[in-house]
Amino acid sequence: MPRRLLKYKDYDVHSVTTIANGKRNANIVTWLTQTDMGNKVLAVALYKVDYTIELVRESGILNINLLADDQPGLIRKLGQQSGRDKDKFKNLPHALDERGCPYLTEAIGYVQCRVMHSTDAGDHELFICDVIKQVVLNPDKTVMTNSFLKAKKLIRG
Ligand SMILES: Cc1cc2nc3c(=O)[nH]c(=O)nc-3n(C[C@H](O)[C@H](O)[C@H](O)COP(=O)(O)O)c2cc1C
Repeated sequence: MPRRLLKYKDYDVHSVTTIANGKRNANIVTWLTQTDMGNKVLAVALYKVDYTIELVRESGILNINLLADDQPGLIRKLGQQSGRDKDKFKNLPHALDERGCPYLTEAIGYVQCRVMHSTDAGDHELFICDVIKQVVLNPDKTVMTNSFLKAKKLIRG
């Protein structure tokens, strides 16, 4: 039985970090794309039941961290459990931007974003975000991809 078509697609792996009224969180996100040739807009799909979407809806403030393949431990820590009942930033190298929003200092870098609007998108909601700035922190690292996670058996495929 061949794989269904969409299983052939690969994705880069990111973490959305966010803050709302002093509450902060981080998750793992693959469904994200640039939608503007001038690098001014990104669209990110957030799962409706998660804690991250709750905070992003509340503040509209987020950073999108492009993860590196030397950060495999983040999949379980950020992407397979909820921040509702634990502080994911414990033992997680991070710093705060000028808005107080966290970013991950060992990622390749991050895009500082603000939500412009959002739209229903199945079990996810699609957030269309204004890019405020892009910051490269670790230029020599390699981007983590979904196919890398499958090869390392960190996720099922
Ligand atoms: C490889 C991978 C890709 C994921 N992609 C997305 C995604 O694109 N959007 C999303 O909202 N959640 C995605 N998730 C799921 C969230 O990261 C996960 O549900 C997380 O535990 C949510 O935590 P929270 O409740 O603290 O927000 C992904 C998880 C993994 C492991």
